[in-house]
Amino acid sequence: MTGETQRKYRADYQPPAYLVDTVELDFDIASDHTRVRATYSVRRNPDAPDASQWRLDGRDMSFVSAAIDGRALAADEYRLHDDALIIANPPSAFTLTVENTIDPEHNLSLEGFYRSGDILCTQCEANGFSRITYFPDRPDVMARYTTRISADAGEYPVLLANGNCVQQGGLDDGRHYAVFEDPYAKPCYLFAMVAGDLGMIRDSYTTTSGRVVDLRLYTEHGNEDQCHHAMASLKQAMAWDEDTYGLEYDLDSYVTVAVGSFNMGAMENKGLNVFNTACIFARADTATDSDFALVRDVVAHEYFHNYTGNRVTCRDWFQLSLKEGLTVYREHQFAIDQGSPGVTRIRQVRAMREIQFPEDGGPRAHPVRPDSYVEMNNFYTITVYEKGGEVIRMIAQMAGREAFIAAVCHYLDKHDGQAVTIEDFVVAMEESTGLDLAQFRHWYAQAGTPRVRVTTSFDQGRLQLTLAQHTPATPGQADKPLFDIPVEVALFDSAGAAVREPEVLRLNDAEKTWTFDGFADEPTVSALRGFTAPVRLEYDQHEQALARLMAHDSDPVCRWDAAQALYLKTLVADVESRREGGAAVTAPELLFEAIETLLDHPPADLELLAEMLTLPSEAMLGEQFDTMDIFAIDAARRDLKQAIATRFAARFEALADTHAAEQAYAFDVAEAGRRRVLALALDYLAAIEAPGIAARAARLYESADNMTDRMAALETLRDLQSPERDRVLTDFAGQWAEYPLVMDKWLRLQATTRRDDSVEHVRGLLADSRFDFTNPNRIRALLGGFVRGNRVGFHRADGAGYALIADEILRLDGLNPQLAAALAGMLTNWARHVPAQAEGMRAALARIAAADLSHNSREIVATGLEYAEAG
Ligand code: TRP
Ligand code: ZN
Repeated sequence: MTGETQRKYRADYQPPAYLVDTVELDFDIASDHTRVRATYSVRRNPDAPDASQWRLDGRDMSFVSAAIDGRALAADEYRLHDDALIIANPPSAFTLTVENTIDPEHNLSLEGFYRSGDILCTQCEANGFSRITYFPDRPDVMARYTTRISADAGEYPVLLANGNCVQQGGLDDGRHYAVFEDPYAKPCYLFAMVAGDLGMIRDSYTTTSGRVVDLRLYTEHGNEDQCHHAMASLKQAMAWDEDTYGLEYDLDSYVTVAVGSFNMGAMENKGLNVFNTACIFARADTATDSDFALVRDVVAHEYFHNYTGNRVTCRDWFQLSLKEGLTVYREHQFAIDQGSPGVTRIRQVRAMREIQFPEDGGPRAHPVRPDSYVEMNNFYTITVYEKGGEVIRMIAQMAGREAFIAAVCHYLDKHDGQAVTIEDFVVAMEESTGLDLAQFRHWYAQAGTPRVRVTTSFDQGRLQLTLAQHTPATPGQADKPLFDIPVEVALFDSAGAAVREPEVLRLNDAEKTWTFDGFADEPTVSALRGFTAPVRLEYDQHEQALARLMAHDSDPVCRWDAAQALYLKTLVADVESRREGGAAVTAPELLFEAIETLLDHPPADLELLAEMLTLPSEAMLGEQFDTMDIFAIDAARRDLKQAIATRFAARFEALADTHAAEQAYAFDVAEAGRRRVLALALDYLAAIEAPGIAARAARLYESADNMTDRMAALETLRDLQSPERDRVLTDFAGQWAEYPLVMDKWLRLQATTRRDDSVEHVRGLLADSRFDFTNPNRIRALLGGFVRGNRVGFHRADGAGYALIADEILRLDGLNPQLAAALAGMLTNWARHVPAQAEGMRAALARIAAADLSHNSREIVATGLEYAEAG
């Protein structure tokens, strides 16, 4: 690997020595390489202390020449390193011209300029621009870009870059060119260009002020009919941002390109988004309801970045949550306005608890605004994104919706065109809302999930409610300050009527007590309604109270949470008993009664019904223990599922009958809810291998007009030993062989099948022609599916699952370090497992550490192993 592995610190920030006003890029795409000529107008930064040299980042490219004001630099006027070009004693204002070549055909890192199928495209965030040409690759250097691309007209009929196309035409030898001008100054991480033979769908959007925006969405030919939902979602997002924030799109065209090989979901390049096809393609017969929602939300997320991220960007990468937290929050609000509000919020809460809390409680815990990093790509985390979004949500809630929106507009006005910090954002919030956020700022600086303990006492019609906070130490942060925590609370009587309207209590001390008066009987407390703060509630609520909330709480999150808490009581007791070699713990009658009540009086929102009947995930159950035993967790969950399925088999049969499709597929709340209930009923029936279940699922598979029902059928059959299972899987593979994203479902389904030889089975699939090791979607489906969706297989006692993952991380690291590091992250929480599992995971990490690694993987693996010494 090139370059030194150096840790960067937030506190070391220095303003750039030189500023760049304009960037002219000229790309000459040839079959063996691409030649880049870059011309910059440069001036000394008056605010920078030292300007004795100017550093331009650049790696994995061939340097050709550099000239200042047209005069080629002599050998002693610059130094060339593996990862930089350093110019000694530049003048105070000058034009720099640099020439270099790059090789997109052999760039498998999916960073910089690379090939995905028939498409050449770029990915620059966070530091991919330094794989394209020499430039100060940092977001606080903002310039206006002009991009010229020339390429073979037959192979690359479509040429795209940020901004407006101002010129195009033919050249000799069957080549052509196009020139693009982006009128907005931007950091280089928002640069993009694309060349290819592409299909396109087109639409337009007229903004409130009457500007007509040309909307185009490109993909490889033949996929156009999978793009209409994405286009419709874009228009919804554009309208939502106008209605909600008064923000109108600011260019004449908005172009999206979907590519098959992409390291993440999508990228918000100015006026030219590049997307993973997985976040664009959605057609009823190829995509599930969750895929439809994902596409809608990612399309909106990237669109919202146009203001929160592009018009106002980050000063340095430590500030990443400035744009990501705010944009995630905006995306979340958009999603809530489009779908079932309650269930949409429940899914957001679940991501926090099942993925963010473990990150925040493990070796890789870091603040929303990290203090240091080795490899920035390792910090595109659920903490920076989702916890960052929850922090914004708390501010919005304290301010009130209207004041918050006004404050965001104030922030955008005040800093338009600038690269700023999270502190700048918080100051703008304070200025506009009048809030004092001094104590609140800890949410940005401190890692770890605060625990809030709830205790109550009731005496003579008076309820005393005490909230106390405590935050466990995280790596590098031993003593935690007191957080400012908003906890929304409501009180209900035994009949389920509200006796105290929802109210937000501010826990900004170690402990606080509130008194509520005038009750005949002890009221039931509904706490942390809507998940008002990203904290763990420690509240040992009585089962009767939980059943009451489950039946009556007006907040869907608390209602669902009460059901979860009730299931968890049995599950946790059962896991503990098994681990001590005791007998299985069975569910109390009260739990079945609560389910019966729910089935008799289901909520109008069918998705909520399905969520409430879904047992806590293995991840959620694991979070209840300091050290988790995968096998005990799996057994407890399966037993409870079977007990519920046995008790309510007839009800689930009836639910499956009454929730069958009656109309053609539509992606809306009512129909998606109906499909969820159908899938849930089948899942319970499969758990007890109810008579006729395989045939029923096979019939559903054959009759379904959509992928959601078809996947429900496949998942029902997945673990059944029946001829239908194999027949249907084979049929599926035959029918969708030409649809890689659908084949990902097929890969994932097999990786998550419960079988003794699942490790060997996954190894077999790695060699299957339908798998492709250079494509992140395939890897996530097969390996991600196996690790996350087949815990029993992954944690197999002989360690074969860990060995498999270690082998693949080592194989991937030389090709795509970003993805290899992400996979390595799945081993770092080893100390949370019981000794046998922990030792196997740690040994796999140690084996990876012994190899010559990318600094991406090196950072992750080292963090994971340091945990060994600490723990
Ligand atoms: N900024 C992108 C988003 O959240 C995500 C992103 C960051 C990304 N780095 C990337 C996407 C690298 C692809 C590859 O919207
Ligand atoms: Zn984003």
